[in-house]
Amino acid sequence: MSFLKITSAHKAYRTPEGGLIRALDDVSLNVRNNEFLTLLGPSGCGKTTLLKCIAGFEDIDAGEITLEEQSLKGVPAHRRPFNTVFQNYALFPHLSISDNVGYGLDVAGVRKRERNQRVDEALELVGLGGFGAREPKQLSGGQQQRVALARSLVLKPRVLLLDEPLSALDRKMRETMQIELKNLQHSVGITFVFVTHDQEEALAMSDRIAVVAHGKVQQLAAPAEIYDEPANEFVANFVGTSNIFSGKVVAQDGRLLTIETANQRQLLAASHRFTTGDRVDLVLRPEHMRLSPGSNGVPDSCIEGTVEASVFVGSEMHLHVNVGKGRTAIVHHRHNRGDENERIEPGTELKLYYSPNAVHLIAAAGG
Ligand SMILES: Nc1ncnc2c1ncn2[C@@H]1O[C@H](COP(=O)(O)OP(=O)(O)OP(=O)(O)O)[C@@H](O)[C@H]1O
Ligand SMILES: [Mg+2]
Repeated sequence: MSFLKITSAHKAYRTPEGGLIRALDDVSLNVRNNEFLTLLGPSGCGKTTLLKCIAGFEDIDAGEITLEEQSLKGVPAHRRPFNTVFQNYALFPHLSISDNVGYGLDVAGVRKRERNQRVDEALELVGLGGFGAREPKQLSGGQQQRVALARSLVLKPRVLLLDEPLSALDRKMRETMQIELKNLQHSVGITFVFVTHDQEEALAMSDRIAVVAHGKVQQLAAPAEIYDEPANEFVANFVGTSNIFSGKVVAQDGRLLTIETANQRQLLAASHRFTTGDRVDLVLRPEHMRLSPGSNGVPDSCIEGTVEASVFVGSEMHLHVNVGKGRTAIVHHRHNRGDENERIEPGTELKLYYSPNAVHLIAAAGG
């Protein structure tokens, strides 16, 4: 039986100027029971809209949303077994932490003893046991965020919808909360639909990621698959950095394809999905290119270019390399501490080596 299923959902907004915005344009998505699913996409792509439609704060214009094969059409938000944690989590400033967390239980008329017990459990769960008597202003931003989580968890929803809950936190706190949230989801066994525009956050936390753009799901897959086998150019560019060469397969030797591109005459790629004559986009990650050839396995392929800039980012150098016709490739190069010879000045001509196995090929759009 399917769990939370969205089928061909459409949602358009009219703008005051008389225009029409397709916020959801034929979205289909199958959320599994107990999974941590992330909606990842740029600002304005429809993430919040989808969350609101699932929650029941908005209605879809067409399509269907079902929970365990029961339609949610006409079911008001408060009758759905879901809870939402908003980006702006607005705690009641004059209520204690306990009363903030217990608010939903009070509204539901839960008896005092059970209410207090569940509040204590929820606070314990988010690592705030013993903080119940404080007021929100006496907590840090990260702690307040955890109160907002506890406030939702205490209601024991089947699905927790989280709209960029970590975006107000600084980087360190966010990384800590990413791990905690993931562990929490695992231990409570509640399905999480988590919204972010931060690809690292999505890769770190999710069981599966739905990459969304222009109101459409571009790809739905596990993080490693999204990164290693992006379905299209948008995903390849949005999740991590990609160097993309468009070209045509001109020769084939088993899995080994020779691809002619506008920038480089011959690039090699290993794939059994394409053959001579196919138009392809060759996706190469910056960490898969080296300044010297590999010594074992399939012979390396090679790209020639001229260094335009080298940027020191601490753990590595990011080289911007002109690879012909004004195209720049980004290469991540690990360097050894204090190694003066490793300094690569702009203007340096070099060869970039990569294994044909490190390449991901996408059928060229319209090809
Ligand atoms: N009530 C509304 N009326 C008109 N247009 C709206 C309304 N709500 C959202 N939109 C538009 O619908 C599109 C999708 O908005 P949505 O809030 O779902 O984006 P988002 O992916 O959550 O973006 P962000 O990352 O910035 O939060 C946007 O173009 C937005 O301007
Ligand atoms: Mg949003």
